[in-house]
Amino acid sequence: MCGIVGYIGNGEAYPVLIDGLKQLEYRGYDSAGIALVDGNGRLNVYKEKGKVADLEKHIADRDKSGHTGIAHTRWATHGEPGAVNAHPHVSSSGRFALVHNGIIENYAVIRENLKKKGYEFRSATDTEVLVQLIDYIASRDDADTVAVLQCALKEVVGAYAIALVDMEHPDCLYAARKSSPLVIGMKDNDFYLASDVNPIAAYTDRVVYLEDEEIASMHYGDRLRIVNLSNAECSHEVMTVSKNLGRAEKGGFGHYMLKEIFEQPDCIRDCMRGRVDPEAGTVTLSAVRDHRERLLSAGRFIIVACGTSWHAGLIGKQLFEDLCRIPVEVAYASEFRYSNPVIRSTDVVFAISQSGETADTLAAIELARSAGAFVYGICNAVGASIPRATDTGSYIHVGPEIGVASTKAFTGQVTVLAMIALDLAREKHTLDGERHAALVRELAGIPDKMREVLKTDTVIGSLSRIFTYAKNFIYLGRGYSYPVALEGALKLKEISYIHAEGYPAAEMKHGPIALIDEEMPVVIIATRNAMYGKILSNVQEIKARKGKVIAIVTEGDDVISRIADVSVEIPGTAECLDPLLATIPLQLLAYHIAVCKGKDVDRPRNLAKSVTVE
Ligand code: M6R
Repeated sequence: MCGIVGYIGNGEAYPVLIDGLKQLEYRGYDSAGIALVDGNGRLNVYKEKGKVADLEKHIADRDKSGHTGIAHTRWATHGEPGAVNAHPHVSSSGRFALVHNGIIENYAVIRENLKKKGYEFRSATDTEVLVQLIDYIASRDDADTVAVLQCALKEVVGAYAIALVDMEHPDCLYAARKSSPLVIGMKDNDFYLASDVNPIAAYTDRVVYLEDEEIASMHYGDRLRIVNLSNAECSHEVMTVSKNLGRAEKGGFGHYMLKEIFEQPDCIRDCMRGRVDPEAGTVTLSAVRDHRERLLSAGRFIIVACGTSWHAGLIGKQLFEDLCRIPVEVAYASEFRYSNPVIRSTDVVFAISQSGETADTLAAIELARSAGAFVYGICNAVGASIPRATDTGSYIHVGPEIGVASTKAFTGQVTVLAMIALDLAREKHTLDGERHAALVRELAGIPDKMREVLKTDTVIGSLSRIFTYAKNFIYLGRGYSYPVALEGALKLKEISYIHAEGYPAAEMKHGPIALIDEEMPVVIIATRNAMYGKILSNVQEIKARKGKVIAIVTEGDDVISRIADVSVEIPGTAECLDPLLATIPLQLLAYHIAVCKGKDVDRPRNLAKSVTVE
C-alpha cells in the first residue's frame, strides 16, 4: 500500500529510485513521483498519474541529476489518483519534500489548525498535511530536523512510513516509521531506503529494519543515526540479507500471475525442502521442534489472517482438527482485533500473511500477545514485520509474489499448515502410523501432481472465452474444498471484476439456488472423496435448474463429468491435500477470463498487494 524508495550517496539517485519504484509497484500503482536534489541545491519534483512507466516517460527529457532523492508509488487512501495527490508533497515554504505510506487519521483536525495559521493546501491528501505540519513546527521552533520530526510525529495519530528531504540539510535523508515498514541499506557512503528489502538487495546485503516510532538520519559520509520520538538513541543489529533475493522477472510469461501459477510445483518443493522426508515418513519443522511443549499443551488454536491467507486458514482449521484433534477457530484479523475476543494464555495464535505486513494481522498479533497467547507466524516475505512480531514461525519460501492476486503464496501457506499438522499429529499420536507415513509421502508427491494439473491450462484457456459474458459466478465445494471455492471466487472477482460467490455446496438449497438459471456458471469442486456422492446430488440440482456446471473432477471420473457442461480433470490425492491441486484450475480460470476481458491482471483496479493500512 504505497512504496517508498530513498537514496543518498556517491552515485546518481535517479536510477536507484526508478528501479526501486518498479520493484515496489506491487504496493500501489495509481500514480508515482520523485524528488531529486540537484547539484545546485535545487529540488526537482516530478509526479505523474498512472504507473511508474508513465512517470519515466513523462520525465524522459527532464533534469534527473542529483545524489539525494526520494520516490513513491501510490495506492490512494485520501484523494483520488492523479498528479496533484501523488507524492512527494512539498511544504509551502519549499523547504521539505515528503513521501508517505500509511494513514494520518487526525489529518483533518491538523489541516484546519494549519489553515488558520495561513497554510494553503493543493492536494486532498493526509501526506500534504504532515509535510505542512513539519514545515510549521520548523518555522516555529529553533530546532534541528530530527527534533522537528519528533514534535510533528507526536502530534499525528495513525500509521506512517516516511522519507523526508530537508533543503536546509540536503546532505541528509530522514526517515521514520510507525506500523508501516521501512528498511535501510548501507554500503560505504551510500544509504538506501525502501518499503521492503528487494530494491536494496541489489546494492548491499547490510540492512537495518527501522522499528516503530523511530527516526533515522542518513548523513552523507557519516554513520546511520536512529533515535526514538523521545530522543533516546536506538541501536540496531545490522542484518545480512541475500543479494540474490530474486529480482522479479516475468520469465517469458505474459503476466507475473501466470508465472507464479506455473511456479507452484517448484515453490512447493522449495517449501518442503529439508522439512519433509518421504523415506522416513516424517515432517520436521524447526519452529514445531523448538516449541513442542507450548504447541502440544495448547487448549486451542486461533488462526488470524485476511483475504486469501484467511482462506488458507480455513483449510488449516480442518487440517488441525482432522489430523491433530486440536480445536481451532479462524478469524478475519480485521474482525478479531475489534471483537473483544476471548484469548487465553494457553491459546496458540497462528498469523498467516504472504507479505508479513498486513496491518490488521499485525494488530491481531499484538492483541494476542498482550493477552499472553503464543503467536506462530506463517509468512512469505523474509524479515517483514509479522515474522519479527511473532514468537516463532515458519516461512513458506515460495519466493517474491508480485501479482496482486495471490496464487503460489496460498498453496505455500496450505503446504506449511499441512506440514505443521503432520508434525504435531505424530507428536500427539492422533494418526495411525501407516496413515501418517502415507500422507507424508502424498504431500511429497504434490509438486509432480501440480505439474499434471498445469497441463489443463490450454483447455481452461479455451473454455474461459465462453464464460467472459457472465456477470456472476457461483463457486461450490464441501469440506476441504469449501475454502477452495471461496478462493476461486475471490480470484475471479479481483482480476476480472465479475461478481462471484463461494458457498459450501450443501448451503445452496438454503437460498443461493434461487440464483441459478441458464446464465449462471457454477464452478464446483467435485473430486473423488468422502463427499463425492453428496456433491453429485448438488451437481444434479444445479443441472435441473439449467445452471452451467464447470466441474473440477478426479482423473478418470465418468459420472460427474458426463453431467457437467465442462469438466477439468486433476490427479487424485488425499482429501486433506486436495486443495493444493484443486485450487490451480481455479487460478487459471480467473486468469484467462481476466485476460480475455482485457483486464490488467497483475495490477487490478483499486487493489494493492500489501494492505498496510486499516
Ligand atoms: O499479505 P497478506 O497475505 O497478509 O495479504 C492478505 C490479503 O490482503 C491478500 O491475501 C489479498 O486478499 C490478495 N489480493 C488475494 O489475492
